[in-house]
Amino acid sequence: MYRSRLGTDLSNITLDYVSSIDDDSQIALYDIIGSQAHTVMLLENKIITKNDAKKILSSLENLKNEKFDSSSGAEDIHELIESLVIKKSGMASGGKMHTARSRNDQVVLDVRMKIRDDINIICNCLLDTIESLVSVSKNHQKTIIPFYTHLQQAQAGLFSHYLLAQADVLSRDFQRLFDTFERINQSPLGAGPVGGTSITIDRHSTAKMLGFDGVVENSLDATSTRDFVAEYVAMVSILMTNLSRISEDFIIWSTSEFSFIELSDEFTSPSSVMPQKKNPDILELTRGKTAEIIGNLTAILTTVKGLASGYGRDLQQIKSSIWSTSKISISALLIIKSIILTMKVNEKQMKKVTESSNLIALDIAEKLVQEGVPFRVTHKIAGVLVQLAHNSKKPISKLSTIEIKKSVEGTKVDSKVVSKIISNTSVVSSLKDRKSFGSSGYDEQKRMISDRTEKINSWRLEMSERENKIKSSLNELQKIVNDLT
Ligand code: ARG
Repeated sequence: MYRSRLGTDLSNITLDYVSSIDDDSQIALYDIIGSQAHTVMLLENKIITKNDAKKILSSLENLKNEKFDSSSGAEDIHELIESLVIKKSGMASGGKMHTARSRNDQVVLDVRMKIRDDINIICNCLLDTIESLVSVSKNHQKTIIPFYTHLQQAQAGLFSHYLLAQADVLSRDFQRLFDTFERINQSPLGAGPVGGTSITIDRHSTAKMLGFDGVVENSLDATSTRDFVAEYVAMVSILMTNLSRISEDFIIWSTSEFSFIELSDEFTSPSSVMPQKKNPDILELTRGKTAEIIGNLTAILTTVKGLASGYGRDLQQIKSSIWSTSKISISALLIIKSIILTMKVNEKQMKKVTESSNLIALDIAEKLVQEGVPFRVTHKIAGVLVQLAHNSKKPISKLSTIEIKKSVEGTKVDSKVVSKIISNTSVVSSLKDRKSFGSSGYDEQKRMISDRTEKINSWRLEMSERENKIKSSLNELQKIVNDLT
């Protein structure tokens, strides 16, 4: 559109190639609000008249309800909005809106406003998901489950402990995104194309009107950098890999071989041929879509890595990677939360499997340690017990006196002590005895649940403070616009 220096217009194919108008639908409203703040600032600093501001602001206000036509011939939303403002308010006034700014600071302003909103949505969804994990864990403080290493049964645990572990994982995702927000919520507006402007603008004023915490000071940095985008998508990539691992656990646990959980019908799909099937497609898609987000991160980093300082059109390409990252992660969180709240937990099966697999071996060894036997010796004794139990196809508790005697051969340990320990050790006693800080024993669950509940509440407060600050700045701006129009 603004091809004043150039002789010819773009062909349709080329225009389609360069245009970001479709991607820009996601930032149209931010562009309008950003333009309103810029216009108010131009008026405050007597760069334009009240009459100009009035006309520009009411044109922008009307555009809030506009459905932008992607076949308008504009290269992007910034050009399109400006041309519509000029059309509505006339060149004499509308032509002044783009004073002392550039599409280069404008696009990155819009992207920052979009990402900060997305972060707030994701953070709230994360808190909801964490809360659902903690609330379900309250019902499973006595539900016994085997814990695995190498996907081989390792120690007995409680299902609440598993859920609380995932709550902690997602809490770190929350904290990472919460911190990232601070670096995102800085205004680049007024940096101009790359080096600032000779017009006496007030960058701090627009930043304040738009609810930013500060400005990206250096104009070259403000217009060039996309490190904040990479940071956002990196944080979401980590979040998605965490959701993907939870999905994998649930997929395995819902097989008929495990039968630890049953997913609610609404989160499974049937087979087109096998009527008995209840496939965990939704969780598989979380795993699959995680790959897409990691791909988005790679696309962003690859775009930026070889780019000379200053705006380059390559940067236009990263917008779709941001939109897809936000959309997928928000849906994934909403879905996983509902899956957690609706799945059936097969407590009997979890307990049966735990009790049938000699998971008390380490507990027996630890009890011998308490009798003064070196751990290496106890480990060997317990190992022989497991081997004997395995060979004679019975649990450790059913081993004969002769077999128990065998286990202490070559040690100074009295086999009667071992027998007594075996008869006093069960999965339940093991979980009662496990009291170390953060362990999966009964005692620690209650403490961790109340600690996490407190944390969620204080994070909720911080979130609403943060959101209200933006909301009240934008309401204030809206009031100024209303008063002027
Ligand atoms: N459509 C562009 C983008 O999305 C806006 C900035 C264009 N600036 C420029 N100097 N060509 O990045």
